[in-house]
Amino acid sequence: MNLNDIDSGIVVGAVYLLCATLFFLGLKRLGSPATARTGNLLASLGMFIAVVVTLFDQQILSYRMIVVGVLIGSVVGALMARSISMNDMPQLVAAFNGLGGGASALVAASEFVRLSSESAEIPSDVSTTIVLGMLIGLVTASGSAVAFAKLQGIMSSRPVTFPLQKSYTLGIFVGIVGLMIYLVINPDLPLFAVLGVACLLLGILLVIPIGGADMPVVISLLNSYSGLAAASAGFVLNNVILIIAGALVGSAGLVLTRIMTRAMNRSLVDVMFGAFGASVSQGEAGPRGSRAVRNVTPEDAAIVLAYANSAIFVPGYGLAVAQAQHQMKELGDLMESRGTEVRYAIHPVAGRMPGHMNVLLAEADVPYEKLFDLDQINNEFDETDVVVVVGANDVVNPAARDQTDSPIYGMPILNADLADHVLVLKRSLSPGFAGIDNELFYLDNTMMLFGDGRDSLVKLIDELEDL
Ligand code: TAP
Repeated sequence: MNLNDIDSGIVVGAVYLLCATLFFLGLKRLGSPATARTGNLLASLGMFIAVVVTLFDQQILSYRMIVVGVLIGSVVGALMARSISMNDMPQLVAAFNGLGGGASALVAASEFVRLSSESAEIPSDVSTTIVLGMLIGLVTASGSAVAFAKLQGIMSSRPVTFPLQKSYTLGIFVGIVGLMIYLVINPDLPLFAVLGVACLLLGILLVIPIGGADMPVVISLLNSYSGLAAASAGFVLNNVILIIAGALVGSAGLVLTRIMTRAMNRSLVDVMFGAFGASVSQGEAGPRGSRAVRNVTPEDAAIVLAYANSAIFVPGYGLAVAQAQHQMKELGDLMESRGTEVRYAIHPVAGRMPGHMNVLLAEADVPYEKLFDLDQINNEFDETDVVVVVGANDVVNPAARDQTDSPIYGMPILNADLADHVLVLKRSLSPGFAGIDNELFYLDNTMMLFGDGRDSLVKLIDELEDL
């Protein structure tokens, strides 16, 4: 079938409009855990229709390579989606970003090669989009490769810095801009290859100085770049839906980056150039080990839970590590059946990726109406009998609120310490991601129940059932 025969422009335009609408609806529904699944399906459906229509619309000489590529990509994608654990999701996203950026750069490069072999002159608007596509695509590809290596433990996650690093980075960037201007005026294949190598180098230099705690922010930023790279590939190919999809990914990635930096009380400039992991994760060990905490048994803790009228559960990264979401829900249900009002407080950067806790609790079928964002619940802690903190640390560290000299000062936290009783479930007094000690553990109203989160919850359930 060739849509050109039936006024393809109108048909394709109408279908692309439908696809764009599905993208918008999908994004809108991703805004709430209750609607996120259907949002994902709608956006995927939009992308599927867009790909099918584009394949039929373009004058493709042979579908063989496309079919082979789709088959290989689908099998690899399905295997990865099934085998990657939730905690490894950031590096999976990094890999996808990198592949997206690389693919967009390949589109730009193949257009450059094709056009320069057809004529000595390439229209300047086309060559401008091509060189921009190379820059954004290759920076995303190499930057994401470094981010993947850091998160996967292939290379150290600590910031890599060396003297005059920022000057080198700036120098290469200025050189790239000069080369891009030259190439727009004088298309030249060997220099185009030099541009590609320089862009790859720039991506590496931009990401190596970024450290541990800032990596997820960088992933989100690279995600945004991969959208811009796709949009620029859309301009190169003159494909409207690719421009729309790329722009949506670009802007959504930027919004997410903003949400994350705000929740961590970091500016984007600090993330990109501050080498945070270098200074902070070395540890503000503080009083850890030298001060007493109130260590309780599951039996004692269960008695406090048994007499609570109201309780708030605060999940954190340790809940994901312990895979204790089902046990947390079971304990919550048990307390509810005994008359306690139970709610769950979600900090925007609890865990290691946006929405991490929402996904875990959805997996355990915790009703959405019992999940509360920081803004919704933070004023409720001081009227709550007991807060159960499961594997959370930085997001309940009062130093962020009270200690002006703390590295996390200013980061919004859940006010767990204001409750009558705080029960903290974790294995030790080790710090969380930010590498700093937590004053909460030493407060008079705090009880520490040491052990793996899941084991401790199972013991609490057993004890509570016996009361
Ligand atoms: P963290 O502060 O990282 O603390 C997690 C705690 O879980 C650790 O202190 C650890 O203590 C405990 N833990 C680990 N395994 C456990 C297990 N099996 N059972 C029980 N506890 C276990 O977590 P958080 O409070 O969720 O804060 C998230 C941090 O990540 C923040 O600093 C945030 O800025 C950062 N971050 C998050 C994101 C996103 S988007 N979520 C992005 C970038 C950075 P023990 O070893 O003593 O058990």
